[in-house]
Amino acid sequence: MSDNAQNSPDITPEAVESAVEAALAAIGSAADTAQLKAARAAHVAEGSPLAVLNASMRQVAPEHKAAFGKLIGQGRGRVTQALAAKEAELAEAETAARLEAERVDITAVASRTPVGARHPLTLLQEQISDVFVGMGWEIAEGPELEHEWFNFDALNFDVDHPARQEQDTFYVDPASRHLVMRTHTSPVQVRSMLDREVPIYVLCPGRVYRTDEFDATHLPVFTQFEGLVVDKGISMAHLKGTLDHVARQLFGPEAKTRFRTNFFPFTEPSAELDLWHPTFKGGARWIEWGGCGMINPNVLRAAGIDPDVYSGFAFGMGVERALMFRSDVQDMRDMAEGDVRFSEQFGMVV
Ligand code: PHE
Repeated sequence: MSDNAQNSPDITPEAVESAVEAALAAIGSAADTAQLKAARAAHVAEGSPLAVLNASMRQVAPEHKAAFGKLIGQGRGRVTQALAAKEAELAEAETAARLEAERVDITAVASRTPVGARHPLTLLQEQISDVFVGMGWEIAEGPELEHEWFNFDALNFDVDHPARQEQDTFYVDPASRHLVMRTHTSPVQVRSMLDREVPIYVLCPGRVYRTDEFDATHLPVFTQFEGLVVDKGISMAHLKGTLDHVARQLFGPEAKTRFRTNFFPFTEPSAELDLWHPTFKGGARWIEWGGCGMINPNVLRAAGIDPDVYSGFAFGMGVERALMFRSDVQDMRDMAEGDVRFSEQFGMVV
């Protein structure tokens, strides 16, 4: 039938059928797209038995062309359809497997829950501490559950001083142990003088307790920062200069302080401290901020320091009050409630 017998097998219905069967078997058993690709190369592509049979059509005598053309055309049609069907089946299976592997459990608890924000009081305390550390001062700490002697006696309070009364002070049972929740950070003055050698330059930020109402301008638990300096030749000018510097660092270059006479048992002379707040929301004004004074010689003596050689000053201010007028917080209770929506406004979301 052909003069090129080795490359052009005879076109017989059997030869076509066997090539088609072989192709369908290979396509049917392909388990993935790689195997299907191999089946296509072996049974459909150029050089495959079917392709060779198709090519040998050229040598078929004209009167047989129609019959053999139909035979081969139908065979190739069946194989092409089987290939397309298998391709679709494998693609679907592979997509399903990928979706299964990449499955996301949307009912799982989201891990992006915000953890919280640093509390604005903590941030302000750190900022205040930085101002003092910048001047070379040390940071001191004392216990919140304090002995009455440190909280009152060593600070020169009379036994019948009104601050000792139960209306102001949280006493802790049993009364015989004389423990109180410290009512101010001033006991750390005494502890610092007992612990350290003069000269002393310390700042003590910390929590204090008073039997105050819980309202927009009072908290029974609040925060103070206490400063203490003991050195030779310390005068009230050093106290004023220090406080003015701190005011400018925290409230801007226009800020300053003023003293109004007052009484504290542990300082002499003593003063109420006001701050000139140049950027206050309602307009620049004076704001009461804390107390200060020159350390009473009796306090130096109680701590074993000779008041004829050394002198010093101390001051104590409220951190909540500072946050209130610095950041225009209307209600102090927002600082105690721990709602992250409040803290968030000051940045530092964790
Ligand atoms: N401890 C005082 C108070 O809480 C403030 C103060 C501190 C006054 C240091 C003078 C010196 O009111």
